[in-house]
Amino acid sequence: MSSIRTLAIIKPDSVRSKNAGKILSMIEESGLKVEAMRMFCLTRELAGEFYAVHREKPFYEELLDFMTSGPCIALTLAGENAITRWRELMGATNPEAAAPGTIRKLYGTSVQFNACHGSDAPETAREEVAFFFSGAELPKS
Ligand code: CDP
Ligand code: MG
Repeated sequence: MSSIRTLAIIKPDSVRSKNAGKILSMIEESGLKVEAMRMFCLTRELAGEFYAVHREKPFYEELLDFMTSGPCIALTLAGENAITRWRELMGATNPEAAAPGTIRKLYGTSVQFNACHGSDAPETAREEVAFFFSGAELPKS
């Protein structure tokens, strides 16, 4: 299977609680390749656009409050089945339901403050990578 690229975000709760380095180590140890990485504060406008699919959900405004509450780290990860592998390493959306050893189980504290983001399918991965990174910032292959 060819190498696939996905978008990961180490969310503001993880940066605030100084778990970003541990999460990065878990990514590296998993064999996924970190291709590009940037730390920044999301504007409300950008956060709203990124999570537009959830616009009608009751948690949308709180999600934007959370995602703009401090710096986050966006990364592109590559490898065979990268989208699925990163979702598995993150664990279920709700940390209470996440499998032992997953990032959300270890570092998430609620269904909202759940430590990290991962694209959920090839099309969204392409869109989300392009949302944060230009083609020129990524490896050529
Ligand atoms: O992040 P994931 O794809 O696993 O879940 P999602 O359903 O796409 O939700 C996006 C984000 O919204 C979650 O990661 C949570 O931070 C937040 N959320 C929430 O605050 N309350 C919920 N009931 C569901 C999601
Ligand atoms: Mg999602």
